[in-house]
Amino acid sequence: MENEIEILAHNGFTIAHYEACDSTNARIKEMAENADDNTVCISDLQTKGRGRKDRAWLSRPGAGAWFSCLVKPEAEMPAEYASGLVFVAALSTAKALKKLTNENIKIKWPNDIVLNGRKISGIMCEMRAKEMKLDFAVLGIGVNLLGCDFPPDLPYASSIEKETGICIPPMDFLKAFLDEYKFDREMWERNGLIAILNEIRPLSATLGERVRAISNNETIEGIARDILDDGSLIISAPDGDRIFIAGDVSVRGIMGYV
Ligand code: ATP
Ligand code: BTN
Repeated sequence: MENEIEILAHNGFTIAHYEACDSTNARIKEMAENADDNTVCISDLQTKGRGRKDRAWLSRPGAGAWFSCLVKPEAEMPAEYASGLVFVAALSTAKALKKLTNENIKIKWPNDIVLNGRKISGIMCEMRAKEMKLDFAVLGIGVNLLGCDFPPDLPYASSIEKETGICIPPMDFLKAFLDEYKFDREMWERNGLIAILNEIRPLSATLGERVRAISNNETIEGIARDILDDGSLIISAPDGDRIFIAGDVSVRGIMGYV
């Protein structure tokens, strides 16, 4: 099933382009041991695309950029490195989409890209660590680019074409993303997560909104006040401020998705 169409080089990245695969995250994990940092895998369709918490990710043929980036830092890194990567990738995705569309692209804390209150893209990071030291991380990114009909069970999903009428070929998006990501990853490694979060805050669809935070053991409602320098979210609830770590919680708007 994994029909490799081409291998491309772009701005220091090696891109393996497939016609079909189960999940580009699964594919790149299989390759990880013998592949270099910045190896990227993109597929025209995924038969088993997955989101966070193993939820299904709709990946119709040619309708979006379904891709994964292998991250193997040269220096030894703690396992927490992976949580910073999600913010880096969210920023790079938002900047690439902004450049290609000039629309008001927003980041829903921590890992979704939204336009007009609808989910255009989802980002996840998986990793393998040994004794709390990162072995490798895999960034998985899905961006709905083309097509206008979404199934009724995804009421908050939309695409760039549906929202703007602009048709961006998946490979064009991938290259625009990689240019931003190269810059943002270097900025993060040089200046820390603070530099990334300083750019994310003004693009946040979450800050200032009334939200519901749903974790394993409780649901609280309040106003999303700030993103702290470690990436966690402060929500002001009636009984005081609460801090949530990305990954532990799902945040939803009270009236809709954002
Ligand atoms: P959370 O805040 O927990 O991340 P989420 O709704 O963003 O919640 P994720 O697990 O991040 O959920 O993303 C997977 C969810 O995205 C799926 O449960 C599904 O509802 C939705 N989804 C699946 N495919 C697509 C798609 N192509 N575009 C937009 N949304 C999708
Ligand atoms: C989310 O919103 O939960 C994250 C969705 C991530 C989807 C992408 S599509 C490319 C890569 N391969 C997968 O199976 N998932 C990610």
